[in-house]
Amino acid sequence: MVAGIAHEINNPLSFVLNNLHIIKTDFTEIGDVLHKYQAGVGSPAEIQCFKNDIQISQGLEELTDVIQTSYDGIKRIQEIILNMRNFTRLDNKRSYVNLYEGIESALMILHHKLKNRITVEKKFHPIPETYCVCGQLIQVFMNLLNNAADAIIDQGVITIKGFEQNQQIILLFTDTGSGIPSENIDRLFEPFFTTKDKGHGLGLGLSIVHSIITNHKGTITVDSGPKKTTFRIALPVDSGAGSG
Ligand SMILES: Nc1ncnc2c1ncn2[C@@H]1O[C@H](COP(=O)(O)OP(=O)(O)OP(=O)(O)O)[C@@H](O)[C@H]1O
Ligand SMILES: [Mg+2]
Repeated sequence: MVAGIAHEINNPLSFVLNNLHIIKTDFTEIGDVLHKYQAGVGSPAEIQCFKNDIQISQGLEELTDVIQTSYDGIKRIQEIILNMRNFTRLDNKRSYVNLYEGIESALMILHHKLKNRITVEKKFHPIPETYCVCGQLIQVFMNLLNNAADAIIDQGVITIKGFEQNQQIILLFTDTGSGIPSENIDRLFEPFFTTKDKGHGLGLGLSIVHSIITNHKGTITVDSGPKKTTFRIALPVDSGAGSG
């Protein structure tokens, strides 16, 4: 998880740094022109010649561009840090949160793994805030999304659907990946059950998901066919506020 966040921050940070270098170079050139103006009053031809030489308007245009993208980069870093607060703010305390925010945090952290390869479709119907440990549920969403991304070999789609039904929040994570053979379905939530190569999976993701959802008095089920898998989470809107 930390590696994911570091990667997400490092990207905008490197282009902001690169931009600062460009700004510094352009600024030095523009400063040179200003100095010539100051020193060279009385010889406009010379200044004109110098101005043409360094293509001042191109420099200014580039600067505007570079400043805008730096601004975007810094905004992105700010967004990531705000998102990270979802983890630390609540840690193991329960409170009322909107689960869609948790899903957005998970998607943000996995951005580098999903982009260019996987289309994420969100069908978010209005849901009430839910009493939960937000950080733990982000972990649930990350584990499910990670598995879905692993199951999609090349290009594919992950659809996340959410709605309220009978005082419960229903969340469906569907992917167009490999599908799960029926003989494996019953073993998915067992600790250390994995079909991934050594070094690629410990088989712990879904057992963690299962215990977090159970701790929230919810249920998780799976439905899979060829080239399609859906994990369905049902969580009570109020898993006993006050009982902890
Ligand atoms: N969306 C999915 N599509 C296809 N197979 C899946 C999917 N989700 C889980 N699986 C199967 O379930 C197994 C167990 O998943 P789990 O997340 O518990 O462990 P893992 O992904 O193998 O390892 P870890 O999560 O510890 O890195 C996976 O190895 C895979 O075979
Ligand atoms: Mg996993």
